[in-house]
Amino acid sequence: MNSQTCSRVTLGALASTILVAGSVFASPLTLDNGAPVGDNQNSQTAGSNGPTLLQDVHLIQKLQRFDREKIPERVVHARGTGAHGEFIASADISELTMAKVFTPGQKTPVFVRFSSVVHGSHSPETLRDPRGFATKFYTADGNWDLVGNNFPTFFIRDAIKFPDMVHAFKPDPRTNLGNDARRFDFLSHLPEATRTLTLLYSNEGTPKSYRHMDGNSVHAYKFINAKGEASYVKFRWKTLQGQKNLDPGEVARIQGQDFSHMTNDLVAAIKRGDHPRWDLYIQTLKPEQMAALDYDPLDPTKIWPGVAERKIGQMVLNRNVENFYQETEQVTLAPSNLVPGIEPSEDRLLQGRLFSYADTQTYRVGANAMSLPVNRPKVAVNNGNQDGALNASRTVGSVNYEPSRKQPRPATESARYSQLPLSGTTQQQAIARTQNFKQAGELYRSYDAKNRRDLINSFGQSLAGSDDESKHIILSYLYKADAEYGKGVCKVAGGNLAKVKQLAARLED
Ligand code: HEM
Repeated sequence: MNSQTCSRVTLGALASTILVAGSVFASPLTLDNGAPVGDNQNSQTAGSNGPTLLQDVHLIQKLQRFDREKIPERVVHARGTGAHGEFIASADISELTMAKVFTPGQKTPVFVRFSSVVHGSHSPETLRDPRGFATKFYTADGNWDLVGNNFPTFFIRDAIKFPDMVHAFKPDPRTNLGNDARRFDFLSHLPEATRTLTLLYSNEGTPKSYRHMDGNSVHAYKFINAKGEASYVKFRWKTLQGQKNLDPGEVARIQGQDFSHMTNDLVAAIKRGDHPRWDLYIQTLKPEQMAALDYDPLDPTKIWPGVAERKIGQMVLNRNVENFYQETEQVTLAPSNLVPGIEPSEDRLLQGRLFSYADTQTYRVGANAMSLPVNRPKVAVNNGNQDGALNASRTVGSVNYEPSRKQPRPATESARYSQLPLSGTTQQQAIARTQNFKQAGELYRSYDAKNRRDLINSFGQSLAGSDDESKHIILSYLYKADAEYGKGVCKVAGGNLAKVKQLAARLED
């Protein structure tokens, strides 16, 4: 048995493989029931010219297992790669949160999955897209997943729009072809997308590698301290490799050579011992500071300009996966995996995500997804949840209910959810402080001349084929954000500037 076949065998067979001074003594090939295989090269047939026999259970099992090798790919973020590493907390933030992961000096194992969003699991990694940056922290209080993106903002602010947004971005259901005109038909109804669209069409939409990009929580979460006091917090991973992107010329060149350039880069760097690192920064706001801002700080289409950043730790990725499917494909990263001291904010997009990930994962991977090795917490799980397909847990005892005198499982008082004062009625209404364009203009003006030019060309070329009305509405958003930006894209997209100005004049800030 060589090392390649070795990686396919079960643990039992592996244990019986003995290595002596470089030579390998083979353990026999078996069926899944452990019985030895008689012939793995020839199916059992009825004589020399008859059909293959159904009683060849080895052949049938091999084909059945092959037929079931794939689980559904993620409905978004299907293309990705993962690695293991470690997070080391460096700052005492106990005044903000009781989360044990932030105890200074505490080392926490992590698994990170990077991804792109729209296209399928083998799509080119050069395609323009936001990138996922999702981290599972195996903390002493259970798993905490920080499921973020490289961009600090998102296109929409309410979960009810997410399925429509993804449908518009994905290929046309009739032709299965990408179609920018469909996207802009939809996006022209979303002025709040202007900042994130600017990021998408800038060179930040085509990062050089996963090692060279930052990560962001996008949403605010809530830190809760030991006294039960809340602060709102945004997280940001800052790459220590330097943030680097590809311009459109580099994208075309690299795509012609390697459609997995980001995975190749990460795997090769870790393999050669060049372990990538990110510092973790937070920005925090007290609940009483929120109302004074001229934008809504719980709106994920916004960053928090001018709010001080503080470094609280560092992450290193130092181990490639041993099996892509078992680790990267089966990992279930979900914003609902939270630990005491970290809670969701009232951000309407995040609230939808709290449901959606755990829901899709019980479908994509199964009811027992959280007991797979890559998803299992390092601390014991102790509750009455049970059974379900493919349950490999070793549950013992009779008490699968709570409360019980036979086997008490007390609740932890300090882990109670924090309290939020409320007033008013239920409602279905947009947020009040929309401020759709200001931060988009600031972002545009933060780019140097070359990056502005690349953005204008990329955006203009993509927008050019849209229907006249959608095109001019989008152009009015860009013009409202920054006149130079709007004019530039208008020229490349073949728009009518007078019409753009007219539409922009009608927009509120
Ligand atoms: C209401 C809005 C959103 C919904 C309903 C949603 C839904 C989903 C779903 C269903 C998946 C597939 C999960 C899986 O199969 O394991 C996914 C993956 C992902 N989403 Fe979202 N998403 C939303 C917004 C966002 C935002 C704002 C971000 C960034 C902050 C984000 C980042 C990611 C990442 C990084 C992944 C891939 C996780 C992995 O690597 O396994 N999503 N999303």
